[in-house]
Amino acid sequence: MTNTSPPPFPFDAPAPPESGPPTQVRLPSGRTAWLVTRYADIRQVLDDYRFSRAEAVDPPPPGATPDVLIRSSPDVLINMDPPRHTSVRRQITGDLPPTARRAEPDITTEVDRLLDELAEHGPPADFVARFAVSLPTTAICALLGVPRADHGLFHQWAAARYFAADASAEFRELDAYLRAAARRPHRGGLIGAIASLGARPTEEELVGNLLAFVIAGHNNLATLLGTTVLALCRLPERLDRLAREPALAPAATEELLRHTRFQNLNFARTARADVCLGGRLIRRGETVITHIDSGDRDPEVHWDPDAVDFDRSDPVPTLKFGNGVHRCPGADLSRYCLTATFARLPARFPGLRLAVPESELVWKPADQLHALVGLPVTW
Ligand code: HEM
Repeated sequence: MTNTSPPPFPFDAPAPPESGPPTQVRLPSGRTAWLVTRYADIRQVLDDYRFSRAEAVDPPPPGATPDVLIRSSPDVLINMDPPRHTSVRRQITGDLPPTARRAEPDITTEVDRLLDELAEHGPPADFVARFAVSLPTTAICALLGVPRADHGLFHQWAAARYFAADASAEFRELDAYLRAAARRPHRGGLIGAIASLGARPTEEELVGNLLAFVIAGHNNLATLLGTTVLALCRLPERLDRLAREPALAPAATEELLRHTRFQNLNFARTARADVCLGGRLIRRGETVITHIDSGDRDPEVHWDPDAVDFDRSDPVPTLKFGNGVHRCPGADLSRYCLTATFARLPARFPGLRLAVPESELVWKPADQLHALVGLPVTW
């Protein structure tokens, strides 16, 4: 993990934010795919049953680590098509919105606690290690109903997964913990809600999906907490405004989600029929990859798309949480975490800025999310 520049665009095509009609690109795996970059086309792919997720799942490579195996499992939501997806998703995420709402006060308390610790540590401090990797763990534990005494274990597993190249040992411990928790009587939170459903979902569906929740949810949220705060460090006048007007935090969340680079490779889809998309004919059996970050900067739907503007009134929401049946069920929880952070961090640390030149920031390898290994800040 020694990249000191943001991961390069991995396709043989012009790098975003240029958005245009679908173009054919070669993926790092050697496979050819249609790269979809326009807002409207991305929404169509993610919401059109003719594009199948289940048919696009690659078998895991030989010697794959357990978390790669889970990502290729046919039992996790992101790899299913309706109608199976519809019933498993209803069972697994049906209780999620009220459970996430109940977790909101815990999230606010945790933000204050982590900021206290940051202040106590003093500058310079690594915002990724001391905040971005911690907050999502507490939020996800609250969602799942993990007892407070066990939060420390989740912090260890999550930090290993975020920072280490191979966290297989931690993954196996987490797997064993979730299996035991799902069988225990008097479970609370999401684990209890799902486990009380009876024979469906099966233990494999339940544990696989809980693992996917913890792993993907943590990684996505920790990544964006780091990179959105980097975006703010580049814009001191926006930080000052948030410090003076914390009520702008929900608008800042939407705008920073829209603006911030997140990933190059979203989950692929396979066309189940010939489909006309953005003026191109996608043939049955061809692979399609959406580039969500480009869609979020599409000038056809966003005025001055590269600017960070908390007063925007563009007519469409961010695509960062996807669209259609696979739309992110962790979106509310993620928004609570980001909004609580933007409402408190700027006022608490006026003058927050990078503690090193930007060229010295270390990024994760290009095949992963557009994620920082560390974010040294001072104030
Ligand atoms: C800011 C943070 C996050 C971002 C940007 C994000 C983004 C996304 C996107 C784009 C998808 C859809 C992918 C596709 O259709 O190809 C998705 C799905 C999913 N996300 Fe998130 N996510 C975030 C946080 C979370 C959290 C915190 C959780 C869990 C608590 C979570 C759990 C899931 C699950 C389980 C799916 C699959 C849903 C399905 O297939 O029905 N995500 N996420």
